[in-house]
Amino acid sequence: MHIGPLHIRSKALALAPMDAVSDSPFRQICQSLGADLLYTEFVQSTPLIHGARKTVRKLTFHESERPLGIQIYGGDETVMREATAIAEAAAPDFIDINCGCWVKRIAERGDGAGLLRDLGRFERVVRTVVENTTLPVTVKTRLGWDAEHIVILDVARMLEQTGAQALTVHCRTRSQGYDGEADWTWLERIKGVTALPLIGNGDVCTAEDARRMFATGCDGVMIGRVAIQNPWIFREARHLVDHGVSAPPPTLEEQIAVCLRHLRGLCAYSGEERGVRKFRKWYTGYLAGLPDLEAVQRELVTIDSLAAVERRLTGLVDAMSPSF
Ligand SMILES: Cc1cc2nc3c(=O)[nH]c(=O)nc-3n(C[C@H](O)[C@H](O)[C@H](O)COP(=O)(O)O)c2cc1C
Repeated sequence: MHIGPLHIRSKALALAPMDAVSDSPFRQICQSLGADLLYTEFVQSTPLIHGARKTVRKLTFHESERPLGIQIYGGDETVMREATAIAEAAAPDFIDINCGCWVKRIAERGDGAGLLRDLGRFERVVRTVVENTTLPVTVKTRLGWDAEHIVILDVARMLEQTGAQALTVHCRTRSQGYDGEADWTWLERIKGVTALPLIGNGDVCTAEDARRMFATGCDGVMIGRVAIQNPWIFREARHLVDHGVSAPPPTLEEQIAVCLRHLRGLCAYSGEERGVRKFRKWYTGYLAGLPDLEAVQRELVTIDSLAAVERRLTGLVDAMSPSF
């Protein structure tokens, strides 16, 4: 698959952009487990052009994370022009425009999925970004505003004419939020009206789901929520898609080793105190299958220092090792 001049492996697996989740340390973990394509968390254009520290921070990534897209959003073309220049200066491989965020305060003011209600403005925003960068531009969106206004086929044709280089579709409408099921039948229909590389998204929870989504004809599969609980989903999906058989699941030792690597990465990125605190949400996934998980978790969330968490996690591995 190609995103403009960028060669991405065929049947690419993408880690979904997820605000407050897909930061640089987590992206690196998913990449090491098989994610082929990474995105930053969404970056709001207005605070970005005013230099808001937390927003600018979202542009940071490690060289090893390529191919990586910086995702920006906003419904104002003038602001998006400036935001594009700032995103380009951070030197990602491509710029992705979020046209799918369903959150009320964002969509109602015409940003994110709000653009699905005004395709003229949608086009102008995309054109503005395309014309103000030398990088490839991609778009992530939903099927439409609601079930009565599914516009994704028009959007796909419009994007191809406007110069976008790939399209990701979360197969729900804006009004669905996360309700109901993602309707993957649209992926085949979108492939029927455009030559744009298409990345399917929504409700891929298992390797088998990824295989089924590729069967719709899409070029890439994007995985979000389940990766939070199971970043091995990328390895599992790659194995099943390429070899037709399931990969063995990670052992608890491996889960804890990756947990430690992620924790150390987050502490290096956010500072020890914040890193240890922010990491607490990750224990459930990494320690799944551990006997006494709840008790261990209750204990881990009271620990404030990296060294102490490391000791506790290493102790879990030692306790599992057979003694001779
Ligand atoms: C915590 C969280 C944060 C998200 N933040 C973003 C974001 O910044 N940009 C974006 O395009 N989508 C965002 N999404 C949507 C996901 O990228 C994805 O489209 C959605 O979760 C459906 O995929 P899934 O079923 O694999 O989770 C977010 C989703 C979650 C759960």
